[in-house]
Amino acid sequence: MITIVVGLQWGDEGKGKVIDFLSQEHDIIVRFQGGANAGHTVYLDDQPLIFHLLPTGLHRQGKTGVIGPGVVLDIQQLVQEIREMEKYAGSLEGRLWIDPRTALVLPVHQAEDGWEEELKGGVGSTRRGIGPTYRDVYARLGLRVGDLFHPETLKHKLKVALDFNNQILGARYGKPPFLVETVYPQLLEWAEVIRPFVEDTHWFLRSALKANRAILFEGAQGTLLDIFFGTYPYVTSSHTLASGALISLGIGPKEVDRIYGVTKAYTTRVGKGPFPTELKGEQGTILRERGHEYGATTGRPRRCGWLDLVLLKYAVSLNGVTRLAVTKVDVLAGLPEVKVATSYRLDGQDRRVPPASSEDLERVQPLYQTFPGWNEFPRPSQKEDLPEPLQRYLTYIEEFVEVPIGFISYGRRTDEILAIFES
Ligand code: IMP
Repeated sequence: MITIVVGLQWGDEGKGKVIDFLSQEHDIIVRFQGGANAGHTVYLDDQPLIFHLLPTGLHRQGKTGVIGPGVVLDIQQLVQEIREMEKYAGSLEGRLWIDPRTALVLPVHQAEDGWEEELKGGVGSTRRGIGPTYRDVYARLGLRVGDLFHPETLKHKLKVALDFNNQILGARYGKPPFLVETVYPQLLEWAEVIRPFVEDTHWFLRSALKANRAILFEGAQGTLLDIFFGTYPYVTSSHTLASGALISLGIGPKEVDRIYGVTKAYTTRVGKGPFPTELKGEQGTILRERGHEYGATTGRPRRCGWLDLVLLKYAVSLNGVTRLAVTKVDVLAGLPEVKVATSYRLDGQDRRVPPASSEDLERVQPLYQTFPGWNEFPRPSQKEDLPEPLQRYLTYIEEFVEVPIGFISYGRRTDEILAIFES
């Protein structure tokens, strides 16, 4: 059985917690795109455990993690995460598999990403080298995990990749080159740490499916950061949609059973780009402080605003979502009123679908539906325990996007989640 979990906004929807919750009923958790730009947070006894590259849920004994070919791998970060996780959960040998096709993020990619941000025109990236690494993959000069175990060809491939990237470093940023003599021994050293984990993950997943094991595909970032369908160019460089999992893992569309889309009860965004329902004044600050809206990877304050149902419906459509998980509903308690955008006004016309270009999305004026607020948020054991106005708010969301809510998340601990299967 395959379940895909994706974010429906600009990342930071609370996927880490939802995935950790669902990992309890799955055997294998698979990262299929992105890299250490992700920061999936799980709270263990109020201590945060942040998964950047390791699949979320690996702290649970008996769970297996897979890093598929669509991921871009910063080995230094991975090695650090493996060491930290092994302190907590014991050896990961035999329960972590990394595909040999996975591309390597090189130190030069991180440097370029950082320097690009310093120039005007950066997209507000996490500076983890994601964009430059995917660029090299598509230019067919990227290094892959499997290359690490062929030292002679590795040296040649590294030279080709560095020659290309050093020209950019020198000409565009006026920076000194990265040298083969420095990077090559580093790669060989890291290769030895990850050697026991390298395996063709396609065949691993195929036999797991045959053995009826439950597999969870863990999306990173969010739908509106997708390289094709997101708010380009203010996007990440990977396919963040549910279908991205299929491309990246070599799984057929008919093999997927459930597609869960995670959305906050409001909206946040880090980095640059259009955000029609952004609240720039005091209301935005209130949401940021109540929701602790600071990035798990970069610590940057997140931009905050109302839930945008025009964009949410678009995201549901792009992923073929079968159930919604709505997170952080507790954060809205105590506000005098709560709003959702239901359409946009653009060039004198009302529209219910977002324009395809970011320039036009910058110019839309959202039209809102307003809901009365609610004061209390009692810990619920069923949907009926939720405050009445919140129930109406959630029903409105379900009806608008035409997908039932399967989960409501209301705190940072993994058990602070209410599963509602019928609606
Ligand atoms: P990159 O993925 O580091 O290249 O960054 C591109 C854009 O995606 C920037 O606006 C980042 O802030 C955003 N981004 C990347 N990863 C995440 C994430 O995991 N959560 C939220 N935003 C992200």
